[in-house]
Amino acid sequence: MTSFQAVHSAEQITEVVTLAYEIWQEHYVPIIGQRQVDYMLEKFQSERAVTEQLRNFYEYYIVIHQGQNVGYVAVVPNRLQSALLISKIYIRRPKRGHRLGKTTLRFVENICLQRGIKLIWLTVNKNNAHSIAWYLRMGFRNVGSTIADIGGGFVMDDFRLEKTMDQQSSGGGSLMNAPGQLLCS
Ligand SMILES: CC(C)(COP(=O)(O)OP(=O)(O)OC[C@H]1O[C@@H](n2cnc3c(N)ncnc32)[C@H](O)[C@@H]1OP(=O)(O)O)[C@@H](O)C(=O)NCCC(=O)NCCS
Repeated sequence: MTSFQAVHSAEQITEVVTLAYEIWQEHYVPIIGQRQVDYMLEKFQSERAVTEQLRNFYEYYIVIHQGQNVGYVAVVPNRLQSALLISKIYIRRPKRGHRLGKTTLRFVENICLQRGIKLIWLTVNKNNAHSIAWYLRMGFRNVGSTIADIGGGFVMDDFRLEKTMDQQSSGGGSLMNAPGQLLCS
């Protein structure tokens, strides 16, 4: 069984930071290099940074599968714009390929259904080829490039991907989970 635990406490924030450190070292060093990973972990995924984000409309959820913390997702819902940003969606490497990412995306889609949000969007590094292919499989479409200056001499050179809630992904299955349900299996 897979469940999603909303992050509020200092202990949960520490767990997110621990997962971020592991996943970013493993996944992003080959893509953007150690210096940028160190910079981005400190700027965006330190305990201070996550605490600040939680005060500013971010919602973090730890993905728990068979009693283990296997990843996390961070979203920024915006009801006025009827849009939700997936800021982070990360599954630990040993746990990938077992539909945990898909289950997590379904969880996010249920948040959108519950709140009447029609559009999910995100940005993904142009060289994060595996994840781009995964998003396309999950029904997202590439709507263009975006470059963001994040300071420290670094930029995020990304694609922007979008998925509208009325379109079904080819590999996505249905969105029939009950609104309000925080457990998926
Ligand atoms: C991207 C990520 C979240 C996907 O999670 P995952 O658990 O590995 O993926 P899943 O097992 O849920 O994949 C589900 C489906 O996608 C398919 N799939 C998996 N990888 C794929 C790929 N690269 N291209 C196309 N389809 C893919 C699977 O075959 C499966 O299809 P099915 O349900 O029809 O059988 C995960 O790989 C990850 O954390 N990657 C590293 C961090 C990252 O880059 N995150 C995105 C940041 S923008």
